Amino acid sequence: MSTLLERVSAGALPRHVAIIMDGNGRWAEARGLPRTAGHQAGALAAERLIRFAGTRLPIPYLTLFAFSSENWARPQAEVAFLMNLLADFLRARLAEFVEAGVRLRVIGDLERLPASLRDLIENGVAATAAGDRLQLTIALSYGARQELAAAARRIASDVAAGRLELSEVGEEAIADQLETSGIPDPDLVIRTSGEERLSNFLLWQVAYAELRFADVLWPDFTPAEYLRTLAAYQTRKRRFGTVEGSGE
Ligand code: IPE
Ligand code: IPE
Ligand code: MG
Repeated sequence: MSTLLERVSAGALPRHVAIIMDGNGRWAEARGLPRTAGHQAGALAAERLIRFAGTRLPIPYLTLFAFSSENWARPQAEVAFLMNLLADFLRARLAEFVEAGVRLRVIGDLERLPASLRDLIENGVAATAAGDRLQLTIALSYGARQELAAAARRIASDVAAGRLELSEVGEEAIADQLETSGIPDPDLVIRTSGEERLSNFLLWQVAYAELRFADVLWPDFTPAEYLRTLAAYQTRKRRFGTVEGSGE
C-alpha cells in the first residue's frame, strides 16, 4: 500500500472528497447479524478512514454522509441506536481529532437530534476549531433539498426586508446560504454498496464532482480501497464544460 500511497500522493489530489457511507445493513445481514452490528462495523470503518485521511494524505476536506433527513423514517430502535453510536463516536474520538488537527463541522437539521447529541456536537466543534489539517464535515440529519429550501427562505426574507437586491440573487448568494458555505465543492463523491444514486446528498454542490460507485459495503471500505479510488480519480479528465486547450 505504501507504493500506491506514494504514487497517489505524487499526483493531483482532490481538495474535497465526499462519501456516502452505504451498506451497513447488508453487511450485517450477510453475516446473519442484526443491522445494528453493521452500523457498529460502519463506525469503525469511518474511524479508520478519518485516521488515514487525517494523517497520510494532504486532502483538506472530507465529508461523510452519516444520517439523512429520510433516515428518520427508519424503525425507531435503529434510529436510537445510530444516535447513540454517533454520540459514542464523538466522545471517543475527540481527543484524537484535536491531536491530529482535524476540525469538525456538522451540517444538517440538528434541531431534530437528541439534545445530548447536539451538546456533544457543539462541544466537538468548539474543541476542534483550531484544527488545520483536515476539515471533517459530518452530514447528519441532512438532506440537500431541505438545505436548498432553507436557503431559499432566507434569501426571500432578505429580499423582502430590503437587505438583498433581487439582482444579487445568483450562484454565489445561494452557495453562501447553504450549510456548506466556505467549503469548496466536492471534487469526488464516493458511494459504497453498489447503489448508484445520490439519495439527496449535496445536490447543489456536486454539479461538477466526479462520481465513483464502489461495490464494497461500507464496513469493508479500507484505506487501500480509498487509495485505489483516488488513483482512478487521477486518470479522469475534468472538462467543466469547456474543450481542451481553451485556456485556463
Ligand atoms: C448506511 O447503511 C448507514 C445509514 C444510512 C445510516 P444502511 O443502513 O443504509 O445499509 P443498507 O443500505 O441497508 O445495507
Ligand atoms: C444514504 O443511504 C444515506 C446515508 C448513507 C447516510 P440510504 O441507505 O439512506 O439511501 P437509499 O435509501 O438507499 O437511497
Ligand atoms: Mg442504505
